[in-house]
Parts: sequence; C-alpha cells; structure tokens
Amino acid sequence: MDDYDLDKKEKIDYKSSFRLIYSLLKPYKKNLYTAFFYLILSTGTSLLIPLLAKYAIDEGIKKKNLKYLLIIMSAYLINTLFFLLMNYLSSMKLIETGQDLILGLKKKLYDHLLNLDIDYYSKNPVGKIMARIQSDTSALYELFTQTVVSIFKDILLFIAIFVIMFYSNAKLAKILLPIVIFIAIIVKIFIDKSSSIFVSVRKIISEISGFISERLNSISTIQTFNKEKQEEETLDKFNIKKFNAALRGEFYSIIFFMTIIMFDPISKALIFAYGGSNVIAGTLSIGALIMFILYVGQLFEPIFMFSEHISIIQKSFSAGHRINNILSTKPRIVNVENPVYLDSFSKSIKFENVHMKYQEDTDWIIRNLSFEIPKGKAIAVAGKTGGGKTTITNILLRFNDYQKGNVYIDGIELKKTNIKSIRKLIGLVQQDIYLFPGTVAENLKLMDKNIDDSRLDYAIKTLELEYFYKKHPLNKKITEKGNNLSQGEKQIISLTRSMVLDQEILCLDEATSNIDPYTERMLTRAIKNMMKHKTVFIIAHRLSTIESADNIIFLHNGEIAEEGTHEELMAKKGHYFKYYSLQTGI
Ligand SMILES: Nc1ncnc2c1ncn2[C@@H]1O[C@H](COP(=O)(O)OP(=O)(O)O)[C@@H](O)[C@H]1O
Ligand SMILES: [Mg+2]
Repeated sequence: MDDYDLDKKEKIDYKSSFRLIYSLLKPYKKNLYTAFFYLILSTGTSLLIPLLAKYAIDEGIKKKNLKYLLIIMSAYLINTLFFLLMNYLSSMKLIETGQDLILGLKKKLYDHLLNLDIDYYSKNPVGKIMARIQSDTSALYELFTQTVVSIFKDILLFIAIFVIMFYSNAKLAKILLPIVIFIAIIVKIFIDKSSSIFVSVRKIISEISGFISERLNSISTIQTFNKEKQEEETLDKFNIKKFNAALRGEFYSIIFFMTIIMFDPISKALIFAYGGSNVIAGTLSIGALIMFILYVGQLFEPIFMFSEHISIIQKSFSAGHRINNILSTKPRIVNVENPVYLDSFSKSIKFENVHMKYQEDTDWIIRNLSFEIPKGKAIAVAGKTGGGKTTITNILLRFNDYQKGNVYIDGIELKKTNIKSIRKLIGLVQQDIYLFPGTVAENLKLMDKNIDDSRLDYAIKTLELEYFYKKHPLNKKITEKGNNLSQGEKQIISLTRSMVLDQEILCLDEATSNIDPYTERMLTRAIKNMMKHKTVFIIAHRLSTIESADNIIFLHNGEIAEEGTHEELMAKKGHYFKYYSLQTGI
C-alpha cells in the first residue's frame, strides 16, 4: 500500500498508538499526579459518608442524642464541600493539561503536514485530513481529561470499598464476591463485542466530516451541475451506515448497563436480607447495615464508570493510530546531507536527458528532456494540455523528483540543493492562485512584515502596473481565497509579489490563459518588463507572451518536438505553426 495513503494501515497498531499517547502524556506527568492527588482526596471524603451515616444512626438517633446528630450532619456538609472542592481542582488541572496537550499535538500535526510533499495532498482530500486533526485529537482530549487519571481513581475506589467492607463485616462482604466475579465476566464480554464497533463508528464519523468539507469546498461545481440531490443521497448512505454501526454499539452498551443496573438492587436485596437477619438476631447494628448498603451503592459507581472508560480508551487507540498514520508519513522529497544553499543564480538552469513519471507503473510523462535556460533569458514551453509542461515546473521547484537524467542550476545538481533555497530563488505564478485574506500589500509581502514599502513601489513601477494598483490599492482587503478578485487580477498580484520578493527566476504556468483581453494586456506588459530584469520560464497557451521569448520549446508527449525562436518555428510550419494557427485563426 502507498505510504501516502491516510488509511495506509487499517489494523490498529495498539503498541505504537500507546507509545504516541504515552509520549504525549510524559511531559505532563506532574500535572497528572497533582490531579490524581486531588481525586484521591475527594474519593477519601466520599468514602466517609456511609461511616457518618452509621454514626448518625447508631450514636445519634438510636441513643436519642440530638446534639451528636447535628454535629455529624455538619460534618457531612463540610465533607461534601471538601469533596466538591477537590473534584473542581482535579477537573481544572486535567482540563488545563488536556487543552495544552492537544494544542501541542495539533501544532505537531500541522507542522508535519506543512512539510509533506504536494503529492500527499493530491492523494488525500483536505477534508479528510481536516477531520483527522479535529475529531481524532478531540478523542484524545476526552482520554486525557476524563479517563487517564479517573480510571486509576476508580480502580482504587473499588478496591478501597471492598477492603472496607471486608474489614467491617467479612461475612456480609463475601456475599458480594460471586456477583463481582460475574460482573467482571460481563465487562470482558462487553469489551470484546464492542471494540470493533467503536473503531468502525469512528471511521465513519471522520468519513462523513471529510465528505462534508470536501463538498462544501466544491459547492459551486455541485450547484452548477445540479448535483445537490445526488450529494444528499450519498451523505444519506454514509449516515445510514453510521446509524447502523452506532446502533449496534449502543445496543451492547445498553445491555451492559442493564445487566449492571440489575445487579445493584440484587446486591442490595441480598445484603438487606442477610444483614437484616443479623440485625434481628442482634449481631449487627442497624447503622452498620445502612453503612454497608451505602457502600454497595458506591461500589457500583466505578463499575459504571469503567464501561465509559473502556469506550474512551477504545476510541483513543483508534484515534492515536490514525494520528500515527499521519505522523509516520515521511516526506519523499527531502534535503540530502549537507545540501548546497543556493542564495543566488548566476549562470543557467540545465535539463539533461530528464525522465520523469508520477507513478512507478505508468509510462514516462517527461522523456529525455534536455534544454537550457541561461540567466537573464526567457524560455517558453508550448504544447497540448497534459503534455507535461506543468510537470517541468514541478521538477524545478522540487514538488516532484525526476527518475533519470539530471537538472543543474549553476552546475549544481538540483537534488543536491537545499529545497527551501530553490523555492526562495524561483517564483511561481500559476493559473490558480491562492491569496490570503488580508490587504493587497500584505499579500505582496507574503505576510512578511519586514519587507519595506519602497520595495512594493519599486516592483509596481518596474512592471508598469501603476494603473492596476490605483484600481486595487495596497490597502484593499482581499477576502478568503482572493474571491473578490478575478483570476487575471490575482495573477498580476502574484507576479508583482515575485518581483517584490526579488526572486531571480520566475516560472509562469499558463498565467495568461483564461483572462480577459484587457487584464491580459496589462499582465503581458508586466511579464515583458519582468523579462528585462529576471530569468523567465514561460508556460503558456496564449502566444502573445510566448512570442517574445528567446527560445521556444514545443513539447509533444513529454518530448521536445521542436525548438527555436518564434520566427524559426513559424517558418518550419510544423507543430508550433499548427498550434499558433489554431489560436489566431490564420
Ligand atoms: N500529481 C500527479 N500524479 C499523477 N499524474 C499526474 C500528476 N500531475 C500530472 N499528472 C499527469 O501527467 C501528465 C502531464 O501533466 P501536466 O504536466 O500537468 O501537463 P500540462 O501542464 O502540459 O497540461 C498528465 O497526463 C497528467 O495527467
Ligand atoms: Mg499545466
């Protein structure tokens, strides 16, 4: 299976999931101990309540000592206040820890995702990744705040109550032994039956949220093609799947709870009957019997909680597993040891017999490609859609690696350069441009506050875009994804940005296709100005920009079919000529 698949490992790897959870908790050990300490104190106070009841009955009521009774009741109230206070302190500590821990985990995931290759995102829908970050981390939050510490408290509480019962009246306590053993068996059956259901419910939940966010992202396509009904039906199918799985899970939970609930009155009835006979026989005080009954009630609390803990633990292991699937994915394109940091460009970019494909089992997308872009020159690539033009920029910006041949920048093998330095050196203006919500100026500086405004003015002047920026002033607010600008306008901003950032090499990937003639004229002029200052690599549908290139490569099926200047290629009357004629209609 592909390492880039979000669900690359279906089966939960409990060991590495545990390792992840443990590594997350480790730095917070002190906080957890503190929370545990508060919880133990609160448990201790709750254990005093049946004892207080015993004294109230035997020493207060039976001996008609009202003053004693009032003292005990005051103690009971103070005890309760203390119990609440300890519970509050413990919860606060756990929530604080959980929040901190989850924020840290989200940051770690985000950092990791930011460094994965573009290829990862072409294989995994963003919505699905988002769902992972949101729902799986919140599953872990539940674990950290509700279970990790409480489960120890509950186990301790259970043992403590049993010890107290045996200590105060072993004969009565023994009656409960078979019941407890029976309950243990039921808990075991419940865990076995429900674990796989919990896992599948979680999977469906994340599928659903992934599905919804994907569709909302492509809402205009859905509405244009009237696909609303079909999408609704698909979602319905998901929901039914979730409903059925959740229902089965709930069924086991309910059966489990009913069984446990049933044992509560059974245990109490047994104790009442047997203990009551002891009271009649005079071997047990009525207060001691009431105390015992109250302890039985308390004994069932940790048992109830246990099933809750189990379900959270199950969820967390599956969440941890899925988080691990992301964290264990290594980017494929990484720096070699001691990469060369290219902070300037002085000679040329050279492709030498480059072969490239995206998947192992397909044919070459780029075949035996050789060409050179000398510094300061403009090289254009033309060719049919799907011919491999964008792939060349993907190689150059190291979004994808080539398999055969070589690429050199200033004589240094591309794969031996520092990836960040390459991306700093080479600007990319694509057809589809993402702008961040913020002002035009902020976008031109790519959110780098250290860039001086004079650089913006210089870039605008050099590219002769004064008129454009009068219409779209630097303080204009750009909305989400740059939706309040047309595609051509976004391209102009993106081009200016590259000039502001002073990138030595500029790749224009079909920057001039699909835009209105007016914007195109402005953009074309800006590109021509850019060519005077920088090295430009143009991929274009529109020939208006290609014409002025120093050299043109016509790509056909990933291979160079023709190469030369515009005049040379036109005279040849080959591929380029045909392509040009189709566009201009001559
Ligand atoms: N990420 C990818 N994974 C697999 N195949 C891809 C990927 N990107 C592009 N391709 C394929 O590579 C070929 C060339 O694509 P591309 O370089 O984008 O063409 P062009 O830019 O010339 O239109 C196409 O057949 C396309 O389907
Ligand atoms: Mg393309």
